[in-house]
Amino acid sequence: MALHSINPTQTKSWAKLNTHFEAIKDAHMKTLFAENPGRADQFTIQWEDFYVDFSKNRINQETMTLFKALAEELKLNDAISKYFEGDIINHTEGRAVLHTALRAPKDANVLVDGANVIPEIHQVKSLIKNFSEAVINGTKKGYTNKAFTDVVNIGIGGSDLGPAMVVDSLAFYGNHLTPHFVSNVDGDHVNEVLKTLNPETTLFVIVSKTFTTQETLSNATTIREWFLNHGKQEDVAKHFVAVSTNTAKVEAFGIESSNIFPMWDWVGGRFSLWSAVGLSISLAVGYDNFESLLDGAHKMDTHFKEEEFETNIPTILAFLSIWYNNFFKAESEAVIPYTQYLNQFATYLQQAIMESNGKSIDRSGTDVNYQTGNLVWGEPGTNSQHAFFQLIHQGTKLIPADFIGFTQSLHGNNDHQDKLISNFFAQTEALLNGKTEAEVIAEGTAKEIIPFKVFEGNKPTNTIFIKQLTPESLGKLIAMYEHKIFVQGVVWNVFSYDQFGVELGKQLATKILQEINTGAIANHDTSTSNLLKHYKKNR
Ligand code: F6P
Repeated sequence: MALHSINPTQTKSWAKLNTHFEAIKDAHMKTLFAENPGRADQFTIQWEDFYVDFSKNRINQETMTLFKALAEELKLNDAISKYFEGDIINHTEGRAVLHTALRAPKDANVLVDGANVIPEIHQVKSLIKNFSEAVINGTKKGYTNKAFTDVVNIGIGGSDLGPAMVVDSLAFYGNHLTPHFVSNVDGDHVNEVLKTLNPETTLFVIVSKTFTTQETLSNATTIREWFLNHGKQEDVAKHFVAVSTNTAKVEAFGIESSNIFPMWDWVGGRFSLWSAVGLSISLAVGYDNFESLLDGAHKMDTHFKEEEFETNIPTILAFLSIWYNNFFKAESEAVIPYTQYLNQFATYLQQAIMESNGKSIDRSGTDVNYQTGNLVWGEPGTNSQHAFFQLIHQGTKLIPADFIGFTQSLHGNNDHQDKLISNFFAQTEALLNGKTEAEVIAEGTAKEIIPFKVFEGNKPTNTIFIKQLTPESLGKLIAMYEHKIFVQGVVWNVFSYDQFGVELGKQLATKILQEINTGAIANHDTSTSNLLKHYKKNR
């Protein structure tokens, strides 16, 4: 059964939220805290090793009550059941959306076209386990009988960003294998990586759900040619494996069927790191850690599916995001992890969030008349404090931000950790309180400088405070954002699991490449024609 199609702005709760918004929009959070000593406790959810404080938001209890009423009017619970049960909620592609099944336990029962997919998933997990263990312990060797030292993931979009982000985030848990990621069709990317590699000890994992993606096939072809300058054709099987749904195309590329790790069309590319797309994760940190990542995600799935609205972390985060996007008209939101390990987290989220909810047609096929999607961006703190935080503190734009921190560091350097966490707390406190004119004057500031030093404050933040960055807690964190995306798509009444907008540019690039190759330049707008001529003259 498909998801319902309800224009959220036509609901009674939306109208009530509009009235409520007018009443609360100018309230300062400082006042809300002063009026309600229990506010922090009231708006904090403690679940497992997560402490999620959303009290520094421009909300009160009435806002929460109206969010819940909106969720009910939009039949969110029904949508959640359909999501987990494998209904065809990716209507425009005629598919289920079942990344959650990839982390479900062995005894689960999830039906696609009447067949339980769980046994198949666990079979592929065994393949991942056996293969990665053989590579890591050196029983699987390269063509000159040497153990592998390097693993190169060749893929783009969801076939790159998820595994690359997780491998980077879990670097602390890494083994002796050095992971690399080649994604861009820019030849300088692949060549820069290749120059560091020894063909005798490098394993290549080609990841492409469709196995038709220009970037991935070009990089895989270039890498195979480079490899064949060293090894022989029969050695390819020892060094190249693939992850794909398209077995025929992988075999046509020259990879043996025994070297293909299957995936399924009911897993979206940007949600696929939990499948064999995560093979490079399992190689880089070991299968047990990969399994813990999946377990963490499964715990968050259960939380999301079963928890009441008031204590449901992904749901609350989704509604807060909608509150700022649609009522406060915020243009973007930031994600600031206070750990260098999550350096690639915002980049990963950009695809997950913006490819999913960057839609302007609703589930009835008509134009939406409200904002959807979130522009999401961010960098780890404290570095970002010295980069773009000025604009968040004193700029003209409202930028709600998620602050993600960990109570314990991995290397156990408490001196650094205390400094890091002091900054983590200080920023959300400063964003909340700002600095009044009286405070600036009390510092003895020269009169003409006073206005420049005043901070309005009242900038919303969520604090997601987790015990430690482990494979399991990372799995929970990623799944938390996946479900936030889902809830937002349900509320905005869009189809979150297609990405037709990416296709037009791909088609045009293929056509233009043909024109460059043949010299037969077709009619374009004058700007594109001039650019093509300039390129032909200077290449
Ligand atoms: O960017 C569009 C897209 O289709 C993504 O959704 C996907 O993750 C990426 O291309 C790569 O696709 P594939 O895994 O089929 O190579």
